[in-house]
Amino acid sequence: MLIKRGRLRPFSGAITGVDPFAIIRNGALVVDDGEVLDYGTASEMIAEYPDAPIVDSPGLLTPGHYDAHVHYSQTRIMGTFGGGLLEWLESVTFPEEARFDDPAYARSVAREFCDALEAVGTTSATVFCASSPVSVDALFEEARHRSLRICAGLVMMDRNAPSALLTPAMEAYDQSRALIERWHGAENGRLTYAITPRFAPTSTPALLEAAATLWEEFPTCTLQTHLAESTDEVEWVRRLFPDAPDYLGVYESFGLVGPGAIFAHAIHLSDREVGLLAESGAVVAHCPTANRFLGSGRCNVTRLLKAGVTVQLGSDVGAGTTFDMLEVAAEAEGVPQRRRPVDES
Ligand code: GUN
Ligand code: ZN
Repeated sequence: MLIKRGRLRPFSGAITGVDPFAIIRNGALVVDDGEVLDYGTASEMIAEYPDAPIVDSPGLLTPGHYDAHVHYSQTRIMGTFGGGLLEWLESVTFPEEARFDDPAYARSVAREFCDALEAVGTTSATVFCASSPVSVDALFEEARHRSLRICAGLVMMDRNAPSALLTPAMEAYDQSRALIERWHGAENGRLTYAITPRFAPTSTPALLEAAATLWEEFPTCTLQTHLAESTDEVEWVRRLFPDAPDYLGVYESFGLVGPGAIFAHAIHLSDREVGLLAESGAVVAHCPTANRFLGSGRCNVTRLLKAGVTVQLGSDVGAGTTFDMLEVAAEAEGVPQRRRPVDES
């Protein structure tokens, strides 16, 4: 057991609702065999655990960060320019994701990805893998041996992408189901599965139907996808699904909007879509560094919050330009990205 003494970000309850600037300047964390046992002011903790050695920590003692939306298969293309969303997917992203049917390649990127998360204090993430089941096994196998909470899934696509990345709906269903059975709830619930239809433009109705069936059968899984990131994408969805009232309406018609669903980006929305997100209990993953990198537009987070939508932050690497959730938060706040050194005065 030891006492880590330093500036402490209070840990109690959910971060939402706690004063985000609350800091105990002379704080302390009591750690026993890697687990947080207690926290408070340094004098309280020293009085309570008089035999524990004291280690001074120069940084901020804070809970691990959560990344609500990130593509591990895009680790090596982070920040690679390729135009707007649809051009970037075609020219940069899909060729990279096609490499993930090679287990050795997938394993080495999974290792880099987990190293990158740990280096910036991210201890929990909801992750897109690639279109090959090999890519999912590689990530979960890597995370299994680390102290990371990972929710991840196989990217399901059955149209509008290179043929090497397409999987017919029934096969994507079978592959996803086998992965759910292998990984959902593994390591005492530290590893969980996310049903992952990439987005409406790469999905036929049959694929969205397959995703919905999986979610009905495994309702404790997360459901993750993309929503209304660029205006070109929204226009394309209108052409592909002419009967839907709007983009979110496509997912809604298949039963994919509800608690446990995460919609990344959600920039170009009608009032109906915002209202539906709020009442459904779904989450929006706000990805400000990616939105800037791809020139997708600015997400009106205030509008979402005012309507009652739950908004979380995502790095969205590789369109996102950093794994560091403090930098993502800084971008969301519109402040310069470089973090200032800690004021030691
Ligand atoms: N929309 C569909 N796929 C992707 C992706 O890989 N990255 C981003 N930023 N948006 C997407
Ligand atoms: Zn994404």
